[in-house]
Amino acid sequence: MRLRALIGAVAMLALCGPALAADFTIRLSHGDNEANPTHLTALKFKELAKQYTNGRVDVLIFPSNQLGSEEEVVQAVRTGTVQAQIPAMANVHPFAPSAGVLLLPYLFNTSAEAHKGLDALLPQLNERVTKEGGIRFLGILEKDFRILTNSKRPVKTLADLQGLKIRVPPNQISIKTFKSWGLDPIPMGWAEVFTALQQGVLDGQENPYTTAQTSKFYEIQKYITEIHYQIWTGPLLIGERFFQRMPPDVREAVAKAGFEAVAYGRQESAKQTEAAKVFLREKGMILQGAPEDEPKWQEAARTTWPDLYASVGGEAWAKTAVGVIEQANK
Ligand code: MLT
Repeated sequence: MRLRALIGAVAMLALCGPALAADFTIRLSHGDNEANPTHLTALKFKELAKQYTNGRVDVLIFPSNQLGSEEEVVQAVRTGTVQAQIPAMANVHPFAPSAGVLLLPYLFNTSAEAHKGLDALLPQLNERVTKEGGIRFLGILEKDFRILTNSKRPVKTLADLQGLKIRVPPNQISIKTFKSWGLDPIPMGWAEVFTALQQGVLDGQENPYTTAQTSKFYEIQKYITEIHYQIWTGPLLIGERFFQRMPPDVREAVAKAGFEAVAYGRQESAKQTEAAKVFLREKGMILQGAPEDEPKWQEAARTTWPDLYASVGGEAWAKTAVGVIEQANK
């Protein structure tokens, strides 16, 4: 009788008792706010990681740079004090040069092309970034093209761009691309951008439509030009040492969760991009479309490629990566 009561009590505890702590807790940081597709991707990862590991993995999400700037957190993931992150590729590139190949100006023509290329390149990218940066990409989020916003004037041609104080992420690819257009861009960490725009330290910046909406740039910026030079890509990354500490079945489940979360985030981002265009117009922003002299922008920016090879893992790797992307889109 006593044994039956004991078994019953154990069964009740299993059903109703406090949830057992997960075996692995992943603290995931990102720099966007909770309306942004980055956050939706993080939430999906949390849900799937728990589901696929039967609760052995718990993901705690820290949005809006709460754990530090994107660059600081990449460093923290490398050393293991933070376990995962979804930063812009531009801010990962300084730590894992080969990832910079995805930032080469005018590499992708459409989001659909980028999705196929990014997924095809993932295994080879991981071979490199695990060694270079101690980080692993579970998947690569994509948020459409980075668009140029500014508070001063409509930018319809390269001539209109001249003299504007434009912020770019602090990496050689963005800097050299803007230089090829005759500008002296201002490299700055993402966390400081809104205040710098507000205070007039900057006239403009470049990021996707969804970021212009969720970061409330419509309050301080007027004109949008679709400069199409770079698609926003950002890995859902995890520290390699932490990843390898998990048993193989958990690793596999976490990798699957990350890859699927990113696919979900891309879909949400596409929906939000269209909604953001309508929203930003309603807020009084002027959407110019592409520059009237876009071929000139393309031609100038493409001349940077040979100069950039050394900073993106070398010419051979850049050519391999371009080949994989082209092949995936045949
Ligand atoms: C940047 O411009 O630094 C990034 O694109 C911001 C972001 O992570 O969304």
